[in-house]
Amino acid sequence: MTYHWWDVYKLRAPSAGKESPSSSSSTRYCTMASLANLLVSLLLIAIFSPTPILCYLNQASVRVQQGATNTSAYHTYIVLVEPPPFNADEDMYHHCYESFLPSSRDGDSGKARLVHSYTKVFSGFATMLTDGELDAVAKKPGFVRAFKEKTRYLMTTRTPKFLGLRNSTGFWRDASYGKGVIVGLLDTGIYAKHGSFDDRDIPSPPARWKGSCKATRCNNKLIGAKSFVKHEDTDDEDGHGTHTSSTAAGNFIINASYHGMAAGTASGVAPGAHIAMYKVCNSVGCYESDILAGLDAAIKDGVDVLSISIGLGDKFDKDPIAIGLFSAMSKGIVVVCSGGNDGAEPHSIKNDAPWLITVAAGSVDRSFDVGVNLGNGMSLHGEALNQVAKPMSKMYPLLYSEAQRDCNYMLNHVVAQKIVVCDSEAPWFVDSILQAGAAGVVLVNKASDGYTVTLDDDNSGVVQMSAVLRAYAASSSSRWARASFSYHNTFLGYRPAPVVASFSSRGPSKHFPGVLKPDILAPGLNILAASPWTESKIGPFNILSGTSMAAPHISGVAALIKGLHPDWSPAAVKSAMMTTAYVVNSTGGSVLDEKHGKADAYAMGVGHVNPTRAADPGLVYDLGVIDYAGYICWLLGDRGLATIVRNKSLTCAKLPKVRDVELNYPTITVPLKPTALMVNRTVTNVGPPSSTYVAKLDMPKSLTARVTPNKLVFSKAGEKKTFSVSVSGKGVHGQKHVEGSLSWVSTRHVVRSPIIAVPNLPESPPSQESF
Ligand SMILES: *[C@@H]1O[C@H](CO)[C@@H](O)[C@H](O)[C@H]1NC(C)=O
Ligand SMILES: *[C@@H]1O[C@H](CO)[C@@H](O)[C@H](O)[C@H]1NC(C)=O
Ligand SMILES: *[C@@H]1O[C@H](CO)[C@@H](O)[C@H](O)[C@H]1NC(C)=O
Ligand SMILES: *[C@@H]1O[C@H](CO)[C@@H](O)[C@H](O)[C@H]1NC(C)=O
Ligand SMILES: *[C@@H]1O[C@H](CO)[C@@H](O)[C@H](O)[C@H]1NC(C)=O
Ligand SMILES: *[C@@H]1O[C@H](CO)[C@@H](O)[C@H](O)[C@H]1NC(C)=O
Repeated sequence: MTYHWWDVYKLRAPSAGKESPSSSSSTRYCTMASLANLLVSLLLIAIFSPTPILCYLNQASVRVQQGATNTSAYHTYIVLVEPPPFNADEDMYHHCYESFLPSSRDGDSGKARLVHSYTKVFSGFATMLTDGELDAVAKKPGFVRAFKEKTRYLMTTRTPKFLGLRNSTGFWRDASYGKGVIVGLLDTGIYAKHGSFDDRDIPSPPARWKGSCKATRCNNKLIGAKSFVKHEDTDDEDGHGTHTSSTAAGNFIINASYHGMAAGTASGVAPGAHIAMYKVCNSVGCYESDILAGLDAAIKDGVDVLSISIGLGDKFDKDPIAIGLFSAMSKGIVVVCSGGNDGAEPHSIKNDAPWLITVAAGSVDRSFDVGVNLGNGMSLHGEALNQVAKPMSKMYPLLYSEAQRDCNYMLNHVVAQKIVVCDSEAPWFVDSILQAGAAGVVLVNKASDGYTVTLDDDNSGVVQMSAVLRAYAASSSSRWARASFSYHNTFLGYRPAPVVASFSSRGPSKHFPGVLKPDILAPGLNILAASPWTESKIGPFNILSGTSMAAPHISGVAALIKGLHPDWSPAAVKSAMMTTAYVVNSTGGSVLDEKHGKADAYAMGVGHVNPTRAADPGLVYDLGVIDYAGYICWLLGDRGLATIVRNKSLTCAKLPKVRDVELNYPTITVPLKPTALMVNRTVTNVGPPSSTYVAKLDMPKSLTARVTPNKLVFSKAGEKKTFSVSVSGKGVHGQKHVEGSLSWVSTRHVVRSPIIAVPNLPESPPSQESF
C-alpha cells in the first residue's frame, strides 16, 4: 500500500477511510496551534505505517544547506502535486503544501517559501527553491511536475459599430448587451473610477458570483478586483488593464475621444456585462506564479469568460498557465487569449493550445488621416495621433537622406524649418529633431510592416506612414522636395478594412500544426479605449495597438453569446464565432494582409469575427474534456494526461487516441497528399429543431474533396450528426499550404469551416521528450 501526502488527513479524520473529513476537524488539525499535537499523532502513525507519512513529517530530508544565504541561487518553481480525493479546505491545502518544503532550521534566507498555493487551477503551489532542494521535493510521493517560473509580458468608440453592433437593435439588444455575464481579466489592474466602469443600467451580479472587490470604486459594473502582485493594490499603473477591460465590457460613455479624435459615444463590446479584474502584471511584466494565483481566484469566484492579453509559453505541455487554463475550460469558462505581436513570420503564434481562443489583430475602417502633400502635387496618406487645431501646415523643404534614414543628424541646425523623413524604427531621435526646430517629422514604416501604421508617437508635427513614401524617395527625391501636411482628424469608412496588422503573430503552431491557429481575427490596430490618466497629457482615453487589444473584443462577443446561451460549452461558443466569421469585406473583396495580399488562414484564422451572426450559428462543433483527453493521449500519452487533464479515472488505455486532424475543431487541417485522407467531424444542432443542411465545397483546382453524407437532416434541437471529409491534392515540392472551405448551408444558416491542406504534415505526434 502506498500513501499519499493527503493520507494523513484520511487516517486522522473521524470518518477515516470514507468521504472527506469535515472541514472543521481538518482545519483544526492543520492549524499551526495544534502542531505539537499533530507531530505526536504523526509519529504514532509513522510507526504503524509501512511508508513514511508525507504531510509535515519527513522535512529533514530537504533541509537547507548550512549557510545557504545566497538568494540568487533560489528560483521560483510552480509545483504540481496529486489532487486529494476529497474536498479539502484552503488552510488544509496550504499546510499540506508546506509539507513538501524544506525546513528552515538553519540558515534559510528568511524568504517566505510558499509564494502561492493553488486549489482550483490545479493542486499545487509556487515556492522558492534551490536546484538541490527541488531534487528532494521531486522525490516526495505525490509530486507530479515542477516548472521553473518564467516572466511573461503583455503584448472604443468605433469598434462596436464596425462590428455591426448598433444601439437598441438586433443582437446587441437581444443579448441584453451581455447582462448577467461576468468577464474576468488577468491584467495590470484597473482605474476603477473611469466613466467606462459606471454601473448605470447594470443589475447586481448573479448569485453564483463568489468574488470580492478591493478597488477604489466597486459597483455593479466592476464587481471584482484583486491584486496578486506583491505589495501592489488593484490600481492600473500601466494602462493596459483599463484599456482591455473597457474594450471587453466598458459601459456606454458619451463624448469619448483622444484629444478630439475618434470622438463619439464609446462602449465595450458587452456594455451590460460585469467586470472582474485580477491584477497579475505590472508595467514590468507578469510572474507566472501570480498569473496562476489570479486564475485560481477567477475560477473560484465564478467568471464566465476570461480575457488574457499576456504572452504565455509556446508549448502547452511545458506551460503551467496553459495547463491551468485547461482547468478553467473544463469548468465551463470561455478562455480568450491574444495570439502575440511577433509579426508576420510563420510559426510566431502564441497561446496556441486548442482549448483557448487565439486571437489575431486587424485594422478597423477608421483612420487618423493626415495628407502629406508633395511639391509635385501628389498627396500621400499618413496618420497622426496629435492633430490639435491644425487644418493645414505650410510648405516646407523635405529632408531625406538615404545615409541617415535613422535621422541621427549630428548637425542639428540642418533640420530647422524642414520636414524630416525618418525610419519608423528609429523614433528616439524625434524629440531632439523637433527641439532643433524641425517643422515636422515623417516616420516611414519598414517595408515588412506594409500598410500597417501602428500609431505610437504623440508629438505634435509627427506623421506616420507606410513604406510607400520611401519608394518615392528612392526613385527621385527632387520631385517631392517640398511638402505640407493637411490634417483631416478622424476619417471613417477607410478602405480597405479589415486588414491583418503586420505585428499580428502567424500560424501554423510550431509544435501542433494539425490544429489551425490563430483562430479568429478581431480589431487590434489603433484602438481607442479607457485610460487611467484622466488628468495627464494622455487624458481619459488612449489609443493602443496589439493582439492585446484584439482579445478583449472576442471576450466581449463571447460574453454576448453566453448571455443568450448560458448553457453552451466553451467550445460551442468558440465554434459559433468561428463558423460565422467573414473572409469577404463589406464590398465583396477579400480580407487582406498587411501587404494588401489576400490574408490566409495562418494570418487571420477563420476570418474576422461577426458578432451578429455568431449569436445564431445553426450548428456547432462541440468539444469536451474527453475529446481533448483523447488528443492529449495521442500527443503526449499518460504522462501528458496526468499533467494536463489530471483526472484519475481517465487513462489513455481507456480513451480513443484522437489524432490532431481528428479533433472536432471548427476548422479542418489535412495533409496535402495524392492519397485522400478522411477525417470525421460531428456537428450539434443549435438552430431550429427541424432543419436541413447541404454541404457546399469551395476548393481550389489543386484539391479534391468529398463530403459524406453531403446532406444532414435534423429533427431535434441538440441532435448530433457525424460526417466525413476526404481531401487529396497534388503537393508540389516547396509549395505552401492550399486552402479551401466546407460550408453547411440551410435556408437560414451558413456554417463555414476552412480546409487547410498542408505539405508534410506529421502523421504521428512529435517524439516525446522526457518531462
Ligand atoms: C550565488 O549563486 C549564484 C548562482 O549559483 C552564483 O553565480 C553567485 O556567484 C553566488 N554568489 C555568492 C555571493 O556566492
Ligand atoms: C444605448 O443604449 C443604452 C441602453 O439602452 C443607453 O443607456 C445609452 O444611452 C444608449 N446610447 C446611445 C448613444 O444611444
Ligand atoms: C466633450 O469633450 C470636450 C473636449 O474634451 C469638452 O470641451 C466638452 O465640454 C465635452 N462635452 C460634454 C457634453 O461633456
Ligand atoms: C474590400 O477588399 C478589396 C480588396 O480585396 C478592397 O479593394 C476594397 O476596398 C475593400 N472594401 C472595403 C470596404 O474595405
Ligand atoms: C473525471 O472523468 C470522469 C469520467 O469521464 C468524470 O465522470 C468525472 O466527472 C471527471 N472528474 C472530474 C473531477 O472532472
Ligand atoms: C470516420 O467515420 C467513418 C464512417 O463512419 C468510420 O468508418 C471511420 O472509422 C471514422 N474514422 C475515424 C478516424 O474515427
